[in-house]
Amino acid sequence: MKDALGAVQSILVLGGGSDIALATCRHLVDRRARTVVLAARRPDELDTTAKELRDLGATTVEPVAFDATATDTHAAFVDETFDRFGDFDLVLVAFGVIGDQERTERDPSAAVELARVNYLGAVSVALSVARRMRSQGHGTLVALSSVAGERARRSNFVYGSTKAGLDAFFQGLGDSLAGSGVQVMVVRPGFVHTKMTKGLDPAPLSTTPEAVAAAIVDGLARGSHTVWAPPALRWVMAVLRHLPRPVFRRLPL
Ligand SMILES: NC(=O)c1ccc[n+]([C@@H]2O[C@H](COP(=O)([O-])OP(=O)(O)OC[C@H]3O[C@@H](n4cnc5c(N)ncnc54)[C@H](OP(=O)(O)O)[C@@H]3O)[C@@H](O)[C@H]2O)c1
Repeated sequence: MKDALGAVQSILVLGGGSDIALATCRHLVDRRARTVVLAARRPDELDTTAKELRDLGATTVEPVAFDATATDTHAAFVDETFDRFGDFDLVLVAFGVIGDQERTERDPSAAVELARVNYLGAVSVALSVARRMRSQGHGTLVALSSVAGERARRSNFVYGSTKAGLDAFFQGLGDSLAGSGVQVMVVRPGFVHTKMTKGLDPAPLSTTPEAVAAAIVDGLARGSHTVWAPPALRWVMAVLRHLPRPVFRRLPL
């Protein structure tokens, strides 16, 4: 339960090794979050991260095993995690893969795998999280979407389409939870310098995990339903989204 000053005290990160998620946890632990559960495919690799969060002041930091593609395990995973650690003020859906656009166009099974992680995995686990959060009657579910889902670009339309689906799903979930005490916040970063984008040419308005984390923390404080990072992307995408297709096709996107 948030403390008397409204600060998040307990966090469940799905995709516990995400650079954006870890920057967000650092900000929140600095602001008195005390329990952090890092759910990741290889939880043993998160010992150093867990120590760092403990050193910052968290009292319980627990890496646990979680695979976004193991959808048949999600309901039990969510129940066990909530039963073991109690209520969560914040659940951050941070797992994702960017994939290789050329490969996904050549190999449908690679495209299916991308959709399995980014879209199906998120839908599956978020419905179980929403069930538990609805019954606890409070908390915020934050989903890392992307500007890539705002309008599909030919250079990464497979990834973009998974984020478009995820984004629409979480918007609808937020509406369905209205009045339950549970909020949903959709975060739409642009290009962020993380493990995921290592070696790629940065897009205009590229940013850092710390800047995205600060935008998330600010969005939580405001009770926002949508956060753009950086904020200027909201206006850039408003224009791009409405460009007529013949014009859009001529852009080097
Ligand atoms: N970086 C960007 O430019 C950018 C922009 C917009 C949106 N986003 C979104 O932000 C989120 C976080 O990305 P990031 O930039 O922080 O990248 P990141 O550091 O690479 O984090 C992605 C995380 O997803 C985890 N993951 C991948 N497949 C998984 C699976 N099947 N089950 C569980 N976890 C899995 C990875 O874990 P492993 O260590 O096991 O691989 C990794 O920890 C993603 O959803 C991404 O699409 C990123």
